[in-house]
Amino acid sequence: MRQKLVIGNWKMHGSLAANTALLEGIKAVPARARLAVCAPFPYLAQCQSLLAASNVAWGAQDVSAEARGAFTGEVAASMLAEFGVSYVLVGHSERRSYHGETDATVAAKALRALEFGIVPVVCVGETLAQREAGQTEAVVGRQLGAVLEALSLEQLGQIVLAYEPVWAIGTGKTASSEQAQAVHAFLRGQVAARDAGVAGRMAMLYGGSVKPDNAAELFSMPDIDGGLIGGASLKSDDFLAIGNA
Ligand code: 13P
Repeated sequence: MRQKLVIGNWKMHGSLAANTALLEGIKAVPARARLAVCAPFPYLAQCQSLLAASNVAWGAQDVSAEARGAFTGEVAASMLAEFGVSYVLVGHSERRSYHGETDATVAAKALRALEFGIVPVVCVGETLAQREAGQTEAVVGRQLGAVLEALSLEQLGQIVLAYEPVWAIGTGKTASSEQAQAVHAFLRGQVAARDAGVAGRMAMLYGGSVKPDNAAELFSMPDIDGGLIGGASLKSDDFLAIGNA
């Protein structure tokens, strides 16, 4: 039985004051799922100081594929590790579409995170046009395929996978639990083709308009092991309700 995992992606939201209120609220109440928040880089130190003695983990939203050097604006995995980061999102659709991240870049970022003991949360997902053209499995299969190719079996056993249909992100339009389960089962099958044991243990999160009122149904599906939460992770009550769904 895989433990449920619920990760908040704050995206470019927050302030020192708002984060304090949010984190104090989240850590005060135990949740059934393991909880984590992925904060903007400047707030990682704040997460570290407020969450260190709690059950809530923290993470970043991106990492450089490079180890160090002349890469203005980039943040290295070694730096994230110094702030106690447990997770880093790689290949979020907003990075893929606004920053031109390719499947190969995403795989390289996942490798760099693993090198520094950080769990990469590899995000995959299709656009509405791709879904309507019947390309969902081809698209997520290709995105996952680059990671399957780049990682050793041992490394693959350490990642978290997140399926986030682009058309469900921030739109209030969630995939139905059946739609999400179908893609999760496909993804798990792809991993199983490499190694059944790793596939059976891998946490696969669903993201895209997860709210307190739809989380329980999504999380009850056999291949959905929790969620990657955007908007609803910014309110402690909603985030905790999802963590207890
Ligand atoms: P929403 O929950 O706001 O739809 O965002 C999902 C997401 O992109 C999490 O990474």
